[in-house]
Order: sequence, then structure tokens, then C-alpha cells
Amino acid sequence: MEIREHHDHDVLVIGAGGAGLRAAVAAAETGVSVGLVCKSLLGKAHTVMAEGGIASALGNLRAEDNWRVHFRDTMRGGKGMNDWRMAQIHAQEAPDRVRELEAWGALFDRTEDGRMNQRPFGGHTYARLAHVGDRTGLEMIRTLQDHTVHEDVDIFMECTAIRLFVVDGRVAGVLAYWRPTGEFILFRAKSIVLASGGIGKAWRVTSNSWEYTGDGMAMAYSVGAELLGMEFVQFHPTGMVWPPSVRGTLVTEGVRGEGGVLTNSEGDRFMFRYIPELYRADTADTEAEADRWAAGDRINNRRPPELLTRDVVAKAIESEVEAGRGSSHGGAFLNIAEKRDPDYIRAKLPSMYHQFKELAGVDITKEAMEVGPTMHYVMGGIKVDPETAESTVPGLYAAGEVAAGLHGGNRLGGNSLSDLVVFGRRAGEAAATVAKRQQGWREIPTEELTSAITKALAPFRNKDRQNPFAIQEELQQVMQHKVGIARTQEGLEEALQEIRALQSSLETCSANGEGAYNPGWNTWLDLHSLLVVSEAVTLSALDRRESRGGHTRIDFPDSDPEYGNHTTIVSKTGKQMTTTREPVPTPPDDLEKLIEEGV
Ligand code: FUM
Repeated sequence: MEIREHHDHDVLVIGAGGAGLRAAVAAAETGVSVGLVCKSLLGKAHTVMAEGGIASALGNLRAEDNWRVHFRDTMRGGKGMNDWRMAQIHAQEAPDRVRELEAWGALFDRTEDGRMNQRPFGGHTYARLAHVGDRTGLEMIRTLQDHTVHEDVDIFMECTAIRLFVVDGRVAGVLAYWRPTGEFILFRAKSIVLASGGIGKAWRVTSNSWEYTGDGMAMAYSVGAELLGMEFVQFHPTGMVWPPSVRGTLVTEGVRGEGGVLTNSEGDRFMFRYIPELYRADTADTEAEADRWAAGDRINNRRPPELLTRDVVAKAIESEVEAGRGSSHGGAFLNIAEKRDPDYIRAKLPSMYHQFKELAGVDITKEAMEVGPTMHYVMGGIKVDPETAESTVPGLYAAGEVAAGLHGGNRLGGNSLSDLVVFGRRAGEAAATVAKRQQGWREIPTEELTSAITKALAPFRNKDRQNPFAIQEELQQVMQHKVGIARTQEGLEEALQEIRALQSSLETCSANGEGAYNPGWNTWLDLHSLLVVSEAVTLSALDRRESRGGHTRIDFPDSDPEYGNHTTIVSKTGKQMTTTREPVPTPPDDLEKLIEEGV
């Protein structure tokens, strides 16, 4: 099939969530030509699933807050696996990026004296999340989108990128297809920013929607980029568990930030039994103390145990369910009705109110919600330079969830939205600066292009009647049960074999019909990415024989200092996926001291 549509841009951004939009704006502001490729419709990004707020040390509620405290919280939350320089840049630049969003029209909730309000979230020492009720990500996308469409950016919606090209050692372009017609489109670019988000659709229970199939990571890996820390997967503690049709839908951490408590089927507020040593000094250890804090008495800032980091809370819920103390549908109870009056709940958590009322028939101003862990985010991703967000492939940048480093072994809630705008902007600027130095566009070799198209159309020629949806279903079962919250050597080894078998099945499996709006073919293409990232997560998880952050090994339940100073790198050697280990960068002494001793 010939390609009828070609476009050349100085900078091409792939993905139109918070990071992609911010990168596109940053690049366009420098005067270069910018294209923005979006797998679905503009505005439909996983960014909207960061509901509870954007983290930045504005210090509006507590003057003691500053970038150093935010940096320390992020590093401690990441269990020593973070790239310290990314964490420093993030903490230092986040307040300006939040004020910028406000200047661009984001309508954040206010304090009584008119400043931007901030809400508490897990692992943050102070109330730090600027928010718009429980629709913060949505407001951020609305604001960024509005800003982007007033810049000179060419937007390509319902257009899926499937294959990157590297020419003379530099990224040169990408092959994509229009979902409505199935026709191919070739983009050439002097720099490419990947901002295509995460990998949630590899799991059965996830807060992610259909777009999150790891395309950016898989494409980058295939042209030689390194993937880092893929074993660290975040299971958000609170997704809906009932009814089955909405299992996994996010229940914002904002519910706990506003005072919501977790109990088991025996009515026990079980989180008091799961306080790790690292957070003992910062965590209330009696209900009376936790309730005083929730009522506004922040004297010692000892936060309720429901506001421990996500890795801790998700594992605690899983343990209660395993021990037979779960709710009838296999979760825990989250109750805000006992702590806040109905008007307050409807004002601060409007989406949660409607979500439970309409989807589950539960009135959260009167009753408890049933919640359980849902795959929400991957801390791992493309390894990038902390200053420029450039990957190990020249000219290829990555920002947001597709990139790794900032969050280490576990991300703090609210740090994703600030990550998107801090590093989206940096990636866009760096990509534009480098693009300006390039002379013209590189030719994509015809044989590479033909081979990519022939491969993409293979399922229309295949005779095997195996269905791509069946492969996706099997993959999700494998990842859910063998590469989920709690992992074992045996389960991971089985998963690896099964993923590789699915990779072989995929090659012979077929799709019906033609390219236009063909979900079978679209899934077949997405599965190539899903299987690459699933293999990367599983291999990395096998390599880390300890438990840390978003990686728990039942057979190695403790953190092991030997594993505490290296990250896992996945790369392509010939046709094989291999893992190596790389030291975690050591912070300078003053920052090391800050992490250990506090401010
Ligand atoms: O719970 C939430 O509102 C999610 C926030 C985040 O992932 O940062």
C-alpha cells in the first residue's frame, strides 16, 4: 500500500495528554513548526485520571513547605530509586508551572482568603495539591488544550503512531495510521517528543482506558532506547470493585485526603497495622490522633495512616482481602460520610458523588464505597537525561508517564500532573533547540518503510483464525495474576513463557475486513506494544529479588540494600530483550543529608 500523506515538522509530539500539550506549546513558542499526534480525540487523556490535584510546594496552607520538603518526600516515596536530579528539578519548578496554568485560565479551588487551596495526599508532608474539586486533571487538560489550539500547532487526531525510524543514528520520523480510514501517514521530524503515556491495558483491572498500550515505550525500545525501572508498577489503592463493568475505575486519593477512612469487613480501621518504620514518626497511630489531624489540628503533622504512600496502602488492602477480611466483592470499605457532611462531600468530591450514584447506586454522603487496588501508573519507562528529557536515542525525547526516573520505585499522588508540565516543557524546549540546528529532514529508506507497512498489514493476509481480542484477554489474565501486586519467581517465570508464546501467536493471528475503524486490526497493532512492555516488566521483576515500592516479591518480602543502589535497564540486543543493572545516581551530600535527616 502506498503512502499518500506525508508531513514534515521540526518537532513532532506523539501524545496529547498534559506532557504532550505542554511540550507542543513550549516548542511552538520558539518559532519552530510543530505537529501533535493524538491516538484518540483531543482531551481524552489519562491526565484526567489524576483527579485529586497537582503537587507543588506553593506553601499556601503551610508556609514551612518549600521545594526541599517536596524533594525529600518524593525521594522517600520513591524508595531510593529516583533520579535525584529529576526530583530536584521537579520540586523546584512545579510551583511556577502551577501558577502558569492559573495564568492560562485554570480555575483552581481557593482558600477563604483567596489563595489557591491545597489538599493533603499520601506521602506529602504538607497539604500540597492544588485542585479543582476532584477534576483537576480535566481542568488541566482543558487549559492546556485551549492554550495549544491558539499556538501554531498542527493537530492529528485519531492517528496512531506505530513505528519510529532512525537514520544516521538520529530519529528521523514515524509511521502512523488514521484510525477512521486505516490509511498510513508518514511524519518526518528533526526531533520527536514521546508523550504517549503508560501501559495499563496490559492488566485486567486498571484505571487506564483503551489507548494505554505502551506504544511509546515499545517504539523507543525497538530503535535502541533503554527502558528503566519497568518492574515498578503502581496499583492505586482505590479503584471501584463493583459492579464488574466498572471494576478498576479510579476513586481519587482525594477521598482520603479529605478525611476518608478505610475499614475491613470486621469494621477494623486496619491501616494502623501497616505503618512501615520509614513513616512511623510521621503517621498518627491512634484513631483519636488521626481524627484530630483530619479536623484541622496539624500540630505534629502526623497524618492518618490512610495517607501512607500508595504502595503501602494497596498492599495493605490486598493483605486484608487475602486474610478473608475483604468486602463481599473483594475490596475494602472507604467511608467519607462519617467524617464530612453531605454538602462538603458534594462540593469537594463532585465526580466521586456522581460516579458512585450513577454507576454503583451508592450515595457516598451516606454509605461507604467498596474499593480495591487498580493498575494506575508505571514508574518505569524510557530512560531520559534529567535536564533535557532526551532518551538514549539522539533526537528522541520522552516526557510524562512514558519516561522514567522521577518517581523511582513509587510515585506520590499528584506528582504526575506536576511531572507532566515540568518535563513536558523541558522536552519541548530542548527538542526545538536541537531541531533548529538540523539541516533539513532525513530521508526514510523506502525498504524500511515498505517492510513496516507489510508487517502492519500482515493480519489481513494471515489465515489463522485466532482472534487478537483473545490474545489481549489472555495477556491481561497473565499480568493480573502473575505480574500483579504480589509476585513470585515461579509466577514470573510462567508469565514470561506465556508472554513469549503470545508473541508467537500474534504473528499468525488474523484480522477481518479492512483498515477503516477496525478494532480487531487496531488491537493486533496495539498488542505488539503491549507484549513488549509486558515482557520488559516481567524480566525486570525477575531480576529484582527483593520488595521495594511498587514491586513486591512474596518470596523476597524485604528490601535488600544490595538492590537499593541499582536500577534495572531493559534494552534490545539483536532480537532479544536483555536486562542489565545500572547504579542509581547518588545525590550530592547536602541533598543526601536532607533525604535522610529531614529539613
Ligand atoms: O487519586 C488521584 O486523584 C490520582 C492522582 C494521581 O495519580 O496523581
